[in-house]
Amino acid sequence: MTRKRVFSGVQPTGDLHLGNWLGAIKNWVDLQKTHETFVCVVDLHAITVPHKPELIAKNTISTAAQYLACGMDPKLCTIFIQSQIAAHSELCWLLNCVTPLNWMERMIQFKEKAIKQGDNVSVGLLDYPILMAADILLYDTDLVPVGEDQKQHLELARDIAQQRINSTFLTKNEPILKLPEPLIIKEGAKIMSLIDGNKKMSKSDPNDGSRICLLDPPELITKKIKRAKTDSFVGLEFDNPVRPEANNLLNLYSLMSGSSKESVLEECIEMGWGVFKPILAEATISKLEPIQIRYKELIKNPEEINRILKEGKTQAQEVAQATLQRVKLALGLLQEMD
Ligand code: AMP
Ligand code: TRP
Repeated sequence: MTRKRVFSGVQPTGDLHLGNWLGAIKNWVDLQKTHETFVCVVDLHAITVPHKPELIAKNTISTAAQYLACGMDPKLCTIFIQSQIAAHSELCWLLNCVTPLNWMERMIQFKEKAIKQGDNVSVGLLDYPILMAADILLYDTDLVPVGEDQKQHLELARDIAQQRINSTFLTKNEPILKLPEPLIIKEGAKIMSLIDGNKKMSKSDPNDGSRICLLDPPELITKKIKRAKTDSFVGLEFDNPVRPEANNLLNLYSLMSGSSKESVLEECIEMGWGVFKPILAEATISKLEPIQIRYKELIKNPEEINRILKEGKTQAQEVAQATLQRVKLALGLLQEMD
């Protein structure tokens, strides 16, 4: 029986944080054991907003090393860099030509990012979700493990595949593109900012104290948790809508300690913030320690990371080319003769 295929990616826009790990990467690590898994560093997405050219290559290698440090195993999965496979940009162009503009103007993340940028919004930012659709559709993906914030982009990828390609350019009654499903794991789906329990933890928040990065040293983790926003209620609890910070930090504690929500509640229900915060810091530091140790080892040896990425590129290219050819043929483009 063929294994179901998984595809996901993260942008190389700086250090990965707990939201990236718990919302996405941690799930990939489990999925690679049972699914055919492709994970990509989506560097072409990272240049849709103003970026520093001197940082992008360094962040790309570092992001790949963080995938490996988190437990992605090149023997079980395919790891590669998006910009090194031209089929991503090519399929993006083909999909651009069939996608209505008004579908794009509705994208929530585009609207949020565009507001932040004022007059400096690139066409690439509007096109971002179509490039993401191309990423996913190229690999005949069954499942896309991502955080909640990416759900609308997944729906767009399905709509493009079904309504604008499969039902429009049907060949021999066989679908041209496979419809992917999102895989959103409830517990890690939305990790909130440490300084505002109503905002998601994000790489783009200008305040570093809002997020814990996978590579933050222990003292910094302790400091960030110590400064995290709290409230003045007595005791701690989950799911009280007027206490988003309590919910987020307890949820984090449950994920970091590996204890169920019920046992976390039992342990913490009567605690004040002053007692709880050092316990959360301790659990976070020890959970991240093995990742940090592995990362330090890996990053000393960039040749080995490059070797893994090159192998990944070869494997990914084969699958991507086949899909690209199928779409070019369906759209009526002249086929090359051998
Ligand atoms: P990005 O940082 O936008 O490249 O996101 C990479 C992956 O991490 C995507 O699957 C996101 O859905 C996920 N992600 C980003 N921020 C969070 C968050 N605060 N909580 C849960 N998942 C997140
Ligand atoms: N847009 C995703 C994010 O910000 C990153 C991404 C790009 C992605 N292409 C993808 C995720 C394909 C999953 C599948 O998180």
